[in-house]
Amino acid sequence: MSFATRRKSLDGLTDHAAHHRLRPALSWPHLVALGVGAIIGTGIYTLTGVGAGLAGPGVIVSFAIAGAVCACAALAYAEMATLMPVAGSAYTYSYAALGELIAWVVGWSLILEYTVVCSVVSVGWAAYAVGVLEQAGVHLPAALSAGPHAGGIVNLPAVLVALGVTGMLLVGTRESATVNFVLVLVKIVALAAFVALTLPAFKAGHFSPFAPFGFAAHVDADGVKRGIMAAAALIFFAFYGFDAISTAAEEARNPARDLTIGIIGSMLICTSIYMVVAAAALGASPFDVFSKSAEPLAFILRGLNHPLAAALVAGAAIVALPTVIMVFMFGQSRIFFAMARDGVLPMALAKVGPRGVPVAVTLLTGAIAAVIAGMLPLQEIAELANAGTLLAFVATATCMMVLRRREPTRHRDFRCPAPWLVGPLAVAGCVYLFVSLPEKTMVRFAIWNLIGLGVYLAYGRRASRLAKA
Ligand code: ALA
Repeated sequence: MSFATRRKSLDGLTDHAAHHRLRPALSWPHLVALGVGAIIGTGIYTLTGVGAGLAGPGVIVSFAIAGAVCACAALAYAEMATLMPVAGSAYTYSYAALGELIAWVVGWSLILEYTVVCSVVSVGWAAYAVGVLEQAGVHLPAALSAGPHAGGIVNLPAVLVALGVTGMLLVGTRESATVNFVLVLVKIVALAAFVALTLPAFKAGHFSPFAPFGFAAHVDADGVKRGIMAAAALIFFAFYGFDAISTAAEEARNPARDLTIGIIGSMLICTSIYMVVAAAALGASPFDVFSKSAEPLAFILRGLNHPLAAALVAGAAIVALPTVIMVFMFGQSRIFFAMARDGVLPMALAKVGPRGVPVAVTLLTGAIAAVIAGMLPLQEIAELANAGTLLAFVATATCMMVLRRREPTRHRDFRCPAPWLVGPLAVAGCVYLFVSLPEKTMVRFAIWNLIGLGVYLAYGRRASRLAKA
């Protein structure tokens, strides 16, 4: 079989050497917390503002579109994650359904996604941290609070939080998941407080005109891609994270029950919260005012004369956003782990330390995420992370449909409802979101994958376990 089309057998998927297995330490409350912990983050806390700037009040529709596409993808993920409860997520699914070459492209895109998401959330965190420091009268030198794109040298708070979370992960999976559980609660309570305090100031007039930049993504005279779909392509960032749960599949105690509840439950909880928070923000402040803030929720509360609540919401973001970074770093190390175990990346990276954590790859991810967070602008890196995620979602929905055809009788603990409607909707929705991204993002994503293809042809193609089988 050619290297491009060789596939893993579904039966052999759990057959790995004992020292390369991860400990089954997680059950569904951990996974829901892992999901909600990963989903609610910089997307709602920060990108709500940027998205409103791209779409106007119509950003509510952007939320609905991105949420609907993610819901379809989540159903495909749930079926795939229970069919193949091993580390690797969309990469592993693609390896079994679509062949090694496509699996490599998906894995390489996931590496980009997971690393860059850590950077995006670190930058979002830094804005809230700097805001709180300023309110307290502590002013960081401009050179150390922004990257070169904004006239500074490095976004130091963003670098520090990325490195801090790396250290926490090295302490071990179980401990980190428990800390995550408490912090998820903090994050939800803060958003509830935001809604409670902004609703009394709700002005329906702020919703008109509803879609000042129209629906389809288009480049305006100033060179910025705007419209409800352009905002949806960015806001999409706020919804993913449930896929990170599937990267923990191998560590679930009872995959069928735990992953289904984990993925679908966390998706539903988060989507409901977002719609309410976005509507409350738009009702409380004109979109063109709060969209310019790097910490829009705190900014809106300060504008309504709630400085204490603003500080508390910012405090919650500061305490809890690191959980998002943590989950994505966790997911990243497991993608690397799965790829290295298959031989397409060096085996040295798959080595699990005494605490059950792949140390080398966690350190590598943390360092790269810190550099990107320190140097690059938020919106651009969020869009790049989205490109990688959209490809993984397309792959997963495709795998779900291919395996329904190829292996119709195989037992599935969770079956995606209406697969021939949900699957094509997930694929078409993701493709539409992808083409709504700025051209610059697509070019960067293509360059990343060309580099990846070079790495694969030079290394993975020959080193793959399947090549030696
Ligand atoms: N959904 C995650 C966030 O919004 C990535 O931060």
